[in-house]
Amino acid sequence: MNDDIDVLLTETRSFPPPAEFARTALLNDPNIYLEAANDTEAFWMEQARTLEWIRPFTKGLEWDAPHVKWFSDGTLNASANCLDRHVRGAKRNAAAIIWEGEPGDRRTITYWELYRQVNQFANVLKGLGVERGDRVAIYLPLIPECAIAMLACARIGAAHSVVFGGFSPESLRDRINDSECKVLVTADGGYRRGQVVPLKRNADKALEETPSIRHVVVVQRRQGSTIQEAHTEMKEGRDHWYHRLMHNASAQCEPEAMNAEDVLYILYTSGTTGKPKGIVHTTGGYMTGVAYTTKYVFDLKDDDVFWCTADVGWVTGHSYLVYGPLANGATCLMYEGAPDWPEKDRFWDLCERHGVTILYTAPTAIRAFMKWGDQHPAKHDLSRLRLLGSVGEPINPEAWMWYQQHIGGNRCPIVDTWWQTETGAIVISPLPGITPTKPGSATMPLPGFSAALLDIRAKEIDVGGGLLALTKPWPSMLRTIWGDDARYVETYFTKWPGRPDLYFPGDGAKRDDDGFYWILGRVDDVLNVAGHRIGTMEVESALVEHPAVAEAAVVGKAHDIKGQAIAAFVTLREGFTQSSSLRDELREFVAQKIGAIAKPDDILFSADLPKTRSGKIMRRLLRDIAEGRALGDTTTLADPNVVAGLKDQYEAQES
Ligand code: PRX
Repeated sequence: MNDDIDVLLTETRSFPPPAEFARTALLNDPNIYLEAANDTEAFWMEQARTLEWIRPFTKGLEWDAPHVKWFSDGTLNASANCLDRHVRGAKRNAAAIIWEGEPGDRRTITYWELYRQVNQFANVLKGLGVERGDRVAIYLPLIPECAIAMLACARIGAAHSVVFGGFSPESLRDRINDSECKVLVTADGGYRRGQVVPLKRNADKALEETPSIRHVVVVQRRQGSTIQEAHTEMKEGRDHWYHRLMHNASAQCEPEAMNAEDVLYILYTSGTTGKPKGIVHTTGGYMTGVAYTTKYVFDLKDDDVFWCTADVGWVTGHSYLVYGPLANGATCLMYEGAPDWPEKDRFWDLCERHGVTILYTAPTAIRAFMKWGDQHPAKHDLSRLRLLGSVGEPINPEAWMWYQQHIGGNRCPIVDTWWQTETGAIVISPLPGITPTKPGSATMPLPGFSAALLDIRAKEIDVGGGLLALTKPWPSMLRTIWGDDARYVETYFTKWPGRPDLYFPGDGAKRDDDGFYWILGRVDDVLNVAGHRIGTMEVESALVEHPAVAEAAVVGKAHDIKGQAIAAFVTLREGFTQSSSLRDELREFVAQKIGAIAKPDDILFSADLPKTRSGKIMRRLLRDIAEGRALGDTTTLADPNVVAGLKDQYEAQES
């Protein structure tokens, strides 16, 4: 972390909002920060009133730290906020989703069409016995049916649990079982780099051990294609083709009046144990947070084409591909596939052809684009772009500058947005018409949010490095962890003993003389690999399930494109010998257990792992080894020779 602080301390460039952008921005008066700080509850109530309520709320915040409620006497429906209010007005025939599949197939869906399809699918779900309060799992490629299925669940008051299509059958199974989903919505397949991802076949493996699932709905990804014949066996009575069910479904389904505090969705994310956490978001607060931040962080106007490149399997896809933009009546681009398929200019081709005006993507992608070369964006007319966003991991100043110059034509402000699955919505980010930007800094909390940098005793650090804390509750914060409220309290609200009002996100940060925040990354055992969150313990648990593995320790190592890569130190059981084929087998094993995103880059076999005298694995030293640094303090180790030996071995392997 110290290296990062050094780099960021030397970064002094600052860019005011471009004058033309500021002149026409939805927000250009800095007083909004003060107004929100003066009466934060009133500020949020005003934001919440921009939604359409079935029964208007009178209550704002109820804070019984660390449990919270917002707008608790109001009722509303999230799908009605994303659809019904737009189809009654001028947006009826506007494009809601412009979709492009990886093979090049295209669909444009207007608000009216989306409204009808969501109503139909809501009736399909009801017909399959889904009731208010039930859970529905969604395991799909990035196709419009993701949004349709999510909004249909919201319409009837069922909570959705979207599982990223890159996760393994076991990961899907565990997530389905944790929240006892009744129905699974999947597809015969999706496309990634020209290959078919056999989702239904993966789902079938998961379904061998998911007793709660009664029905499976299967979207036919391409009619007449060979996917379904090759990969899809339909189980009589349980499995149903989506298009057949939709064909007979009525396009009228009254939206349920949901309490503001009713669950909208569950989304699993990695923590510091082997078991992912089901983050619970509720209806009123979440919708308030995403509607407000989408509108003002992205300065969203009627003629914008907004492209958030995230998959719907992650929170960014939930908040800024579906709920936030649709609540604002925006036109969104949705692209299924890889950025380098069939060529490395696919993103810029998409931007040009669809007239994208706002692009929201991840630093890992930006670093890959830099490496692929300036010629790819240079081939395309990107002059419609007017705002760029970054999310998911710290963006290094070099990538920030490249993004500004080569994608933004030195004309577009960049919003570096810090937030998490748990926060539901963007928390720290510039307002593009007001806040000056500095390459590598997410700047300051948005109006309505409060952060501080604290030391371990909760003392505020004005300038310097420390732990990031969110110091006031906000509407879109998680309410609990599904089925494990004790873990909710323990994970987020016990960092500073006796202060259950302080939320700990798990990130370290630096604050500069202007009070700007520079996020340095996780300080817990959570990795951020290419913007994907992975727990070291999850990978370790997967490794030790292999018969050859006695013990495993996993750390993150700096990687120039992915931000972090996974390095695993493995001790073998008696009778097994290290070999490069076993190394490959273990990497593949982790991919099968969790998903390809969790595959370790390096595996080092070792007779022993460095441990303290009390038996705790010294990850700090393993990180030093994995990143090729001089070893830090080894005096607390039970056997300092272990680590010196490991370092030699690692270096021998690397060379
Ligand atoms: O470490 C922070 C990093 O991503 C973590 C949250 O991961 P996840 O819940 O998967 O959500 C990702 C998308 C919001 C955070 O704890 N992170 C996210 N955005 C940034 C970031 N780190 C630095 N700068 C960001 N803009």
